[in-house]
Amino acid sequence: MGFTPIKDILAGKYEDQEVNVRGWIYRTRSSGKIAFITVRDSSGIIQITVAKNDVEEKDFENAKKALIESSVAVNGVIAKDERAPGGYEIRAKKFELVGKADKFPITEHQSEELLLDNRHLWIRSRELMNVMKIKASLLKYCREWFNENNFYEVTPPTITPNACEGGTTLFEFNYFDKKAYLSQSAQLYLEALIYSLERVWSLTPSFRAEKSKTRRHLAEYWHLEAEEAWIGNEENMSIQEELISHVCQKLAKEDKDELVFFKRETRTLKNIEPPFERIKYEKAVEILKNKGFDFKYGMDFGVKEETALCSDIEKPVFITNFPKTVKPFYMKEADELTYLCADLLAPEGYGEIIGGSERETDYNKLVERMKEQNMNMKDYEWYLDLRKYGSVPHSGFGLGVERIIRWLCKLEHIRDAVPFPRTINRVYP
Ligand code: 4AD
Ligand code: MG
Repeated sequence: MGFTPIKDILAGKYEDQEVNVRGWIYRTRSSGKIAFITVRDSSGIIQITVAKNDVEEKDFENAKKALIESSVAVNGVIAKDERAPGGYEIRAKKFELVGKADKFPITEHQSEELLLDNRHLWIRSRELMNVMKIKASLLKYCREWFNENNFYEVTPPTITPNACEGGTTLFEFNYFDKKAYLSQSAQLYLEALIYSLERVWSLTPSFRAEKSKTRRHLAEYWHLEAEEAWIGNEENMSIQEELISHVCQKLAKEDKDELVFFKRETRTLKNIEPPFERIKYEKAVEILKNKGFDFKYGMDFGVKEETALCSDIEKPVFITNFPKTVKPFYMKEADELTYLCADLLAPEGYGEIIGGSERETDYNKLVERMKEQNMNMKDYEWYLDLRKYGSVPHSGFGLGVERIIRWLCKLEHIRDAVPFPRTINRVYP
């Protein structure tokens, strides 16, 4: 007889039948001749009653003494019981203690620091389990969308001589006696790959030495990026809104239990369908001024500005045509002052989740800008080559996976969107 996922038992498929279940002790209490033990596996939580008269003496002693987070294997009969959480319980016939747990260092109401120090154990919590499930679903639905829309998944490097997003947030290291960086973005490599595959996407870690402490920045995050040949920034935005909508529709349909945990109403996700509003940066500046911000054309949005722009919207919104002064060297110009680019902001004040643009194809313009920004041309020769051998119009974007998760799961802090967060003051565990 195999082992049954707890979720299937709670779905009522096994009433009055004998099952085997395995997992970890979540709660435990005993009174005299009976021990009540709730056990969790990756699918759910169920109550197990271990009665002295129903099991071997050793099993009963173990059931009474085992501490939370001990691993157990249980055999018993499923009974419907209104009082049990989830409506069913297992009346044990066998209770095997597989791995005894020491006293668990995490109890209720712990400080944030203690939870972070014990992250390797805290990832067993309901909250982080549900975040990780939503993240797995999100990645599955993204991959699904790219497959259905004729994109090739590719594997760019994460060690690079290039600073895609500028020098200020680079992690530099010694690479066999040469200087190299941890990648901020796969974009430059994806641009090279469109010449063979036309539509490509990748999922890689990106690294940013962000010195500011915010709830939106990690030093290491998962970056989902796409690059498309023959496409301008308008179509690039269409691709983004279709991808995001697909993911939201699928989550609303397939992942209700986890969304409910975060009080994310599926209605708010079902509502997310193309088109998303497009607002020019220039107009956004007006909106901010009307909201009382002391903000001038040419400044970049900080957390406060972004929040103000997207706090009372229901669908994500594109802010387009940023001034050249606040964006990197590789974007194609819309006019003298602005680029053909867009940031996608999530609703409810969660802020930027995607950055994208059409790319500059003119060799001379690129060189000029790179010189202006004192970039080391030698390191970018390969990138400039792309403009010499059959250049085509192209665009792309990068989506911060944890940024989206933060919005979907209504997380206060982005660090809870990764199992082992890397932030300015934390690299352990
Ligand atoms: O806007 P960014 O810097 O754009 C790029 O890197 C482009 N080269 C992407 C491309 O066109 N292929 O970063 C893209 C996204 C942001 O919109 C944000 O969601 C996320 O990456 N991001 C971060 N997420 C977590 N922590 C950080 N420190 C992040 N920095 C950016
Ligand atoms: Mg950005």
